[in-house]
Amino acid sequence: MTYTTILTETRGRVGIAQLNRPQAMNAFNLAMLGEVFDALETFDKDEHVGAIIVTGNEKAFAAGADIKEMSEASYIQMVTEERVEVWNRIRGIRKPVIAAVSGWALGGGCEFVLSCDMVVASESARFGQPEITIGIIPGAGGTQRLARLVGKHLAMEMVINNRTLTAQEALQFGLVNRIVAVEGYLDAAVAFAEEIASRAPIAVRMAKDAVNAAFETTLTEGLAVEKRNFYPLFATEDQKEGMKAFIEKRKPNWKGK
Ligand code: CAA
Repeated sequence: MTYTTILTETRGRVGIAQLNRPQAMNAFNLAMLGEVFDALETFDKDEHVGAIIVTGNEKAFAAGADIKEMSEASYIQMVTEERVEVWNRIRGIRKPVIAAVSGWALGGGCEFVLSCDMVVASESARFGQPEITIGIIPGAGGTQRLARLVGKHLAMEMVINNRTLTAQEALQFGLVNRIVAVEGYLDAAVAFAEEIASRAPIAVRMAKDAVNAAFETTLTEGLAVEKRNFYPLFATEDQKEGMKAFIEKRKPNWKGK
């Protein structure tokens, strides 16, 4: 697929998809949605990639869905164009996806961040769900993922009263993993992603799946998922290598087998 709204590159074992509609604050139009999910799926299949970063630019990660493209849409178009349903594709990505956020992450931009596995934010990052100000509500998971992450009262305020969070507040409420300087924020995110990409690949995949289960299941079901993911790791070469390396006081050499 040739991309016109995003840029992609690979640095070491990290695949990077950069949203690239700076003239529109990286608002998600249909083309960019299709391209970014295609890039994620391509990196997911690439055995040389161990972790994936999605980023924007210093000023904006993404300012939400493209309001200009959406403003005249009918009910039927919203249902049939898959403008909202397409967001489910991120749930199928098995490798860790890290959002590297600088500037605005609003509406669909914030929802994209909420769908990622970890978040590196620059000091200028701002998170919010301003859909209410244009007469709608979040439609790409915002009400659900935000409430699970930051709790009911703050989620209500963000969704109903357009409260935005600074990077520091986002860190405090568990929406981001770490804050870095604006300058070089992507390099810092790549260093973070490199560390994750250097871990035992099958265990990483199983870990992501198990942690995600915590948001979908009862505790009993979640613990069963954890066991289902834990036991098979003893059939991998990496488990034998990891434990042998610990005993021999050396670094493990992961094979992803
Ligand atoms: N859609 C389309 N275009 C957008 C956009 C969006 N979401 N956000 C910004 N732009 C465009 C602006 O229209 C402007 O274009 P022109 O130069 O052609 O006028 C350009 O990007 C620069 O934006 P501003 O001049 O507004 O820049 P600013 O620095 O003054 O403000 C901002 C930045 C606070 C992000 C502001 O642009 C803004 O509030 N954007 C809209 C945010 C929003 O409401 N997002 C929710 C969208 S709905 C949604 O996401 C639904 C969902 O759940 C999936």
